[in-house]
Order: sequence, then structure tokens, then C-alpha cells
Amino acid sequence: MKFFIDTADLQQIETAMGWGCMAGVTTNPTLYARTGGKLADFENHMVKIAHLCEGLPVSAESTATTTDEMVVEGKRLAALAPNIVVKLPICAESLAATKQLKEAGVNVNMTLVFNVTQALMACAAGARYVSPFVGRFDDIAEDGIEQLSNIIAAVKNYYLPEHTEIIAASLRTPHHVAQAALLGSDIATVPFDALEKCLKHPLTQQGLASFEEDWASVK
Ligand code: G3P
Repeated sequence: MKFFIDTADLQQIETAMGWGCMAGVTTNPTLYARTGGKLADFENHMVKIAHLCEGLPVSAESTATTTDEMVVEGKRLAALAPNIVVKLPICAESLAATKQLKEAGVNVNMTLVFNVTQALMACAAGARYVSPFVGRFDDIAEDGIEQLSNIIAAVKNYYLPEHTEIIAASLRTPHHVAQAALLGSDIATVPFDALEKCLKHPLTQQGLASFEEDWASVK
């Protein structure tokens, strides 16, 4: 499973990229707003992210609501840098836009996917990535991991990763990330704080502390 970072924060992206295990970035309007950025600077910000992780996919979300606008904005975003993927929320307009963008050579990440049929329709329209959400099911006391499991099984019945990769999204905890891996998700996109938690285990920390003591005792 590949790890993407789910943030628009340049410092977090630079730090995580330095770890050597990251394979891409996903952003959304909420994550961009959290950086304090303004709409007028959005495209410049996406270019900065794209340069920070050259050669790796960076999802930039369109704000358009009609198919024509999504296609125009999608082409514009994709022209900012060769590694930009256009993120579109699943709906009738975005399915139509995905087909046109694919024909124009633009990769689409279909987001806000919550069930099997949405995922399969996104694949059929030519989405390069589909992003099933996990945490938002948990927010309404439903089982996000079970939905993710269903979506992975259905998509993998019909599509190879070369056609469409699954990005497990809305992951909030190391448990979510581990479950995504065990279920065979191609990618997990993870916020910075959750990535840091994924790196740690109490026994690792205990082991590190005892190494320090051992080195001190043989000085
Ligand atoms: O990429 C966006 C997605 O991961 C959203 O996560 O935590 O807002 O449900 P969250």
C-alpha cells in the first residue's frame, strides 16, 4: 500500500516527503483553508506542492459545479504541473467531466465516495483514483471500514490498479490505516498527525529508551 499525505500544509508535506516513504499528496478546500490561504492564491499554492513532490501525484480539487466548468477548470489545474491530478466530488456532472478529462489525458481522483455503486460508476467513467471515505461513517456511528472493504472488493472484481487505484481517505487513526492495508487498498491518504502516530508504538519508544540507558552504562 502506498502512503499519501492528506494536507495542504507545505511544512507538513516537506517533512513527510523527507521520510522517504511517501508517494503522493491529497488536498481539499477545507485543508487549503486551514493553511490560511486565499482563493486567489490557490493555484500558486498547488504549484508549490507539486514542486515539493515532483513526479508524485498531487490531488487539487476543482470548485466548479457544472460539467463544462469542471472540464475547463480541470484542464487548467492539470496544466499547472505534470503531476497534478484533478479531484472531483462524485455526482452526475463530475462523471461526465471525468470521461472528457480522461480523453484529454487528465487524471481524475473521484472523491466523497461512500458506497460501491458510486465507486464503480467513477471507475467506469475513467477515474484514475477513487477515494472512499472512512472516518465520516464513524462520525455518524456507522462502520466506515466495512464500507471500505465492500468498495475494495467490488472495484477489484472489475478493475486493475493500472485503470483505477483506490485511495482510502478520511482516515483518522493508525487503526484505520492498518485496516486499509489489510483490506488491500492501493493507497491510504493520511493526515500528518495520524502519520506521526503510525510511526510510533509504545514498545518502540520503550526500546529506544532502554538503548539510551545501555549506551550510557557502557560509556
Ligand atoms: O482528502 C479528504 C479526506 O481525507 C477528508 O477527511 O477527516 O475531513 O473526513 P475528513
